[in-house]
Amino acid sequence: MTTTLPLSPPNAPDFAADNNECQQDAFFNRFGHLENSPIPAYAIDADHVIIQWNRACVMLTGTPAAEMLGTRNHWEPFYETARPVLADLIVDGAMAESILRCYPGEVRQSSLTPCTYVGEGFFPRMANGGKWIQFSAAPLYDQMGNMIGAIAMLQDVSAQKHAEEALLKVHADLEQLVIVRTTELMRRNDELTKANEQLMSLQQQLMQVEKLASIGQLAAGVAHEINNPIGYIFSNFGALGQYLKQLMDMLDAYEKAEPLISQATVRRDLSALRESIDLGYLKADIPVIMRESLEGIVRVRQIVQDLKDFSRVDNAMEWQIIDLHPGIHSTLNIVSNEVRYKADVVLDFGAPSDVECLPSQINQVIMNLIINAAQSIGAVRGTITIRTGSTPGTAWIEVADNGCGIDGENSSRIFDPFFTTKPIGTGTGLGLSISYGIVSKHHGRIDVDSTVGVGTTFRITLPLRQPI
Ligand SMILES: Nc1ncnc2c1ncn2[C@@H]1O[C@H](COP(=O)(O)OP(=O)(O)OP(=O)(O)O)[C@@H](O)[C@H]1O
Ligand SMILES: [Mg+2]
Repeated sequence: MTTTLPLSPPNAPDFAADNNECQQDAFFNRFGHLENSPIPAYAIDADHVIIQWNRACVMLTGTPAAEMLGTRNHWEPFYETARPVLADLIVDGAMAESILRCYPGEVRQSSLTPCTYVGEGFFPRMANGGKWIQFSAAPLYDQMGNMIGAIAMLQDVSAQKHAEEALLKVHADLEQLVIVRTTELMRRNDELTKANEQLMSLQQQLMQVEKLASIGQLAAGVAHEINNPIGYIFSNFGALGQYLKQLMDMLDAYEKAEPLISQATVRRDLSALRESIDLGYLKADIPVIMRESLEGIVRVRQIVQDLKDFSRVDNAMEWQIIDLHPGIHSTLNIVSNEVRYKADVVLDFGAPSDVECLPSQINQVIMNLIINAAQSIGAVRGTITIRTGSTPGTAWIEVADNGCGIDGENSSRIFDPFFTTKPIGTGTGLGLSISYGIVSKHHGRIDVDSTVGVGTTFRITLPLRQPI
């Protein structure tokens, strides 16, 4: 679709035209007052020759009217090289489309008078680093409706533009600030959420540690209470054994003397009594019962001792310099029920080395590792190997099993609190996270090496002395 410029609109200006008058005179007769208009304006005739360049236009462009009138240089204040401007296009009767094409995005047809075009543009060539000019151009008609030229009106809108730009910049800066602040707020919120999660998990761990500590305390208290009675039962039992032996010797002597008893009734009663109590069996069984009971008492004593060693409650929060091997032994005794039906335990201990540690807590770690190792072993009986060793400045303990191994995707999560692959009720998922916390507190490290279907080795490495 093409749009033709409305060269002769119905409301064409009704000014007197003398066919004999030249166009310039006709213009002056009609538009001479433009000279004093506060709006910068110029006009060209049908030959593109400038016939009006008013004072305001001189002020705006800095080009004197004398230099412009009678020339076709009205492009000069605006462009580097000669080119038709809006007024020229109108005088040439250019189609609306080609006018709009010449000023892409800058010019539009006026909605009030479609033969008028209005536009806006930046003209870098103009004074003080360029100016933003709003311009419009319209055709001029004589009385007969013939186009006799075109008029262009200009307006310096630089100040407005700069204010708009400044406003836009302020707006953009504000938006940027809002984005930066929002991002910062979101980051802080994330940090707070994470810190909160960490606190909660720490609190859970602390509660668990406290629970274990109080269980340890209870165990140690019970052990302490049992220790005394077991002590005197043990020593009394030794005396009882001795007395029984003496009584047996005495009984043997009486037995030997029995035939010498002269009264037949007494002899008969004694013989009946001996048979009824099966004295032979008693004499054979009493030493067996005594031996078995003694073994039992010794075991109870050992369990009590292990409980005391394991919990070390008396010095629970005291750093001590100790050899770790006795602790491993007592821990193994404590968990023997978890292990004995599932695996053989192989001990491969290096030379003893004194480690500065919180012994009950290190025992706790060893216990978690041994129980995990036992739980990793399935129906087929397995082996748990506990190795120890040292390097200059450190001591290490390894707990290795030939159980199920740890799946690759789980290996990064096993130290997370509450991560467990065990059935509900079996594991809380806290064992390794607590162990990790304890080892970190000792400035040590835990390493894991695991192959699915082959087994897992956990190694704890501890510094021999804690940094001051
Ligand atoms: N020796 C091991 N062999 C195979 N998997 C292991 C071994 N030790 C730990 N894991 C894996 O790591 C997970 C976390 O262990 P952790 O000791 O923290 O918790 P848990 O044993 O599941 O429960 P809890 O110790 O609280 O009773 C286990 O559920 C298991 O999947
Ligand atoms: Mg565990």
